[in-house]
Amino acid sequence: MTFIEKKLIDRRSFLKDIGYLGGASLALVTFPWLNACTATARKETAGEKAKLAIIGTGSRGTYHIGNLSKLPNVEIIALCDNFEPHLKQASALVPGAKLFADYREVLALPEVQGVLIATPLDQHAHITIDALKAGKHTFCEKAMALKMEDCLAMYNTYRESGKVLYIGQQRLFDPKYIRAMEMIHSGVIGEITDIRSYWFRNNDWRRPLPDPSLERKINWRLYKEYSGGLMTELASHQLQVANWAMKMIPESVMGMGDIIFWKDGREVFDSVNLIYRYSNGVKLTYESNISNKFNGLEVQILGHKGTLEPEKGKYYLEDAQPAPGIMQLINQIEHNVFDRIAIAGPSWVPETASLNKGEYILPQNNAHDGSSSVGVAGDGSEQLVEAFCNSVITGKPAECLVEEAYYSSILSLLGIQAMEEKTLKIFPEEYKIPYSKFV
Ligand SMILES: NC(=O)c1ccc[n+]([C@@H]2O[C@H](COP(=O)([O-])OP(=O)(O)OC[C@H]3O[C@@H](n4cnc5c(N)ncnc54)[C@H](O)[C@@H]3O)[C@@H](O)[C@H]2O)c1
Repeated sequence: MTFIEKKLIDRRSFLKDIGYLGGASLALVTFPWLNACTATARKETAGEKAKLAIIGTGSRGTYHIGNLSKLPNVEIIALCDNFEPHLKQASALVPGAKLFADYREVLALPEVQGVLIATPLDQHAHITIDALKAGKHTFCEKAMALKMEDCLAMYNTYRESGKVLYIGQQRLFDPKYIRAMEMIHSGVIGEITDIRSYWFRNNDWRRPLPDPSLERKINWRLYKEYSGGLMTELASHQLQVANWAMKMIPESVMGMGDIIFWKDGREVFDSVNLIYRYSNGVKLTYESNISNKFNGLEVQILGHKGTLEPEKGKYYLEDAQPAPGIMQLINQIEHNVFDRIAIAGPSWVPETASLNKGEYILPQNNAHDGSSSVGVAGDGSEQLVEAFCNSVITGKPAECLVEEAYYSSILSLLGIQAMEEKTLKIFPEEYKIPYSKFV
């Protein structure tokens, strides 16, 4: 059996395991973007190849090239980057591809059916809009854009174009997230009462510079002209997950952001704490800091019957069997609990976190520590690009995907406004788009 055949079988069994192999399953109705990577979609595109160009061949672009090269239904025919060393690196991976520094020349190639854009955030909107207008099916990395009006312009152009648009929100295709959402929506953890999400790392978020003059070009993430910092780079993923769980979008946000540790000339916050509020009173807290990685990353979804951690791929029921009485007593003695109870005063036991180790959502679990800013195996990115290739061939969009991504992008930008203006921000009516799952 070849490697590709094995990968395909693995993917088939994953689809079957989580119950959305075949057109009639509930997951396909609830999560319709998955239709683009079912067995049916694969059958429809078998023997055909999506002819793609990659625009932006830095770290994420190269990562996508790696995933695309494992697929049978794609041919990368052009590569584009305005930084020659990155273009050269990518061309070594795709030797036959035509090379360009200017993306407009790529869009002028009639043989290019689809483009995958993995440029810095400030370069997303105009390239995506030009690509859709040039009649190309388009994949653009998350977040959508640096400004709300550009996100909306991208959405409107997509709707008018009749072309396919994908945004790089790979958790929509991640098996453990899909299963987690099925469990949440079927009531396993009860009513959602709180969402705690966080992303912690301990590194300066810098890339090595071949020459100091390239600081802003290489380390674009650190400067407001090109980047929304932690909110657009990291939080956009987790905001999408929270809304997916809640089936609605928050109505308001407040927050604080600072540069507390990496005072190296960067402009974007290295520490952010925000509270998003949904109309039913549920709060989504978001905390991100890149000078301590103790907590890693998670979107902890709390219900009145249990807690679910999709990134770890685990869930914890509130009424899990308690430890036998004797074990509790031993535990309390070991932790000197009784020494700390005031004699003749009110007795109390410290309310420490649950020791429930939880259950895995899926038998095969892929967890990671968030240390990679490029991508990790098994996080849905492979299925996402596979789905895009199928859509390029069939011309069928991944339903609801753009809307899910749009709202997470707008909310990450609204969070930045709340922190910069030090005020409560209400979700602006003019940025609501028709999406029956949320509004
Ligand atoms: N979905 C995810 O999990 C994930 C992970 C990492 C990065 N990303 C996203 O991918 C995008 C790229 O991030 P990265 O880490 O690869 O950045 P990078 O700096 O490594 O790569 C960006 C590349 O785009 C090129 N570029 C810039 N402007 C261009 C233009 N006008 N035309 C052609 N090429 C241009 C740069 O020269 C560079 O090679 C960002 O939007 C980022 O948020 C997403």
